Amino acid sequence: MNYSVSFPSGTVQYYTAGSFATLHEIVDTDDCIVLTDNHIATIYHSLLAPYRTIVIPAGEDHKTAETISYITDELLKYEAHRHTTLIALGGGMITDIGGYVASIYMRGLHYGFIPTTILGMVDAAIGGKNGINHKLQKNLLGTINQPQFVLYDAGFLQSLPLEEWSNGFAEVIKYACLFDKPLFKELEQHDIDYYRGNQTALNKIIETCADWKNKIVLADERETGARKLLNFGHTTGHAFETLYQLPHGYAVALGMMVACQASIEHCMLDASVPQRLQHLLQAYKLPVQQAIDIPKVMDVLRMDKKRNKSSIDFILLTEIGNAVIKPLSTEEIQSALVSFSHASHS
Ligand SMILES: NC(=O)c1ccc[n+]([C@@H]2O[C@H](COP(=O)([O-])OP(=O)(O)OC[C@H]3O[C@@H](n4cnc5c(N)ncnc54)[C@H](O)[C@@H]3O)[C@@H](O)[C@H]2O)c1
Repeated sequence: MNYSVSFPSGTVQYYTAGSFATLHEIVDTDDCIVLTDNHIATIYHSLLAPYRTIVIPAGEDHKTAETISYITDELLKYEAHRHTTLIALGGGMITDIGGYVASIYMRGLHYGFIPTTILGMVDAAIGGKNGINHKLQKNLLGTINQPQFVLYDAGFLQSLPLEEWSNGFAEVIKYACLFDKPLFKELEQHDIDYYRGNQTALNKIIETCADWKNKIVLADERETGARKLLNFGHTTGHAFETLYQLPHGYAVALGMMVACQASIEHCMLDASVPQRLQHLLQAYKLPVQQAIDIPKVMDVLRMDKKRNKSSIDFILLTEIGNAVIKPLSTEEIQSALVSFSHASHS
């Protein structure tokens, strides 16, 4: 099904059951440039052969100002102009950096996303946030600017490594915890292998999650309220990601476990939920335990850009499918980390 969503910063056309082969029906392929990473460029070499392509090294370490400089050089070599369309083909790293460079090159190019990871499909390609990392802080530099289109081609997932499936399912589980008890129950009935082998069920899940993200961003594109809910598991998750070099989804999985501990304390979340979440994360091959250095985690949290003066906004669950935003003091966060740490050792 194709549909469009009009956000304050632009209208996005979604092609949900699309195919890369139909790109020419969406854009003038003579005037587009594909940005991708070296993994995807290698696997899909023949698919990309007809296109002008910019290839950057894969991985979060390359989501930097240096890579922006390289992409800009390449765009200039190709004589990209204001009516050129940049197509970001890849996971969240590529859509983030692609959206950012397209937003600033000549004050804005047309651009579209073709996400190739589950995380990209359910999260990074939706919502208009883009950006790059600074050596002191992830995603420090960026804009909110919507792509013209997002094209879903599930065929790309055939080559996605298992670890990246898990990474993406962390975000799927996040939506279930936040908004969707039936989705949580459905996920409990299956596991990652089921969705890897069942395209129809997978597409349904991806569409459900993309809908949730669109709904939330539509209500609050600039993250002044409801969009903050999407940070469930991300506050401590980002700290774990930085300190322990974990993949994003793995860190978010652990962050959700911490948030559940805090939710029992501050939102009267039923004490059985952390265990249900733990089983669910394990079924999707995500970690549930991590040895952590609490003072170091607190140091990273203090750097968090979402920090108010004496507290940090935490996303907590009142029940599965319902979340609230609560400012937690340093002591309260520390206490949740201690509970998580004890659970990790028991
Ligand atoms: N803008 C947002 O709203 C938003 C939301 C969530 C995450 N993000 C960002 O997304 C990034 C993480 O995205 P990600 O998890 O997709 O990681 P990624 O883009 O780094 O991709 C992970 C790995 O999978 C490979 N890969 C991608 N698609 C493949 C395919 N189809 N076949 C084989 N290999 C493939 C990549 O080359 C890479 O090695 C982070 O930078 C994060 O900050 C942004």
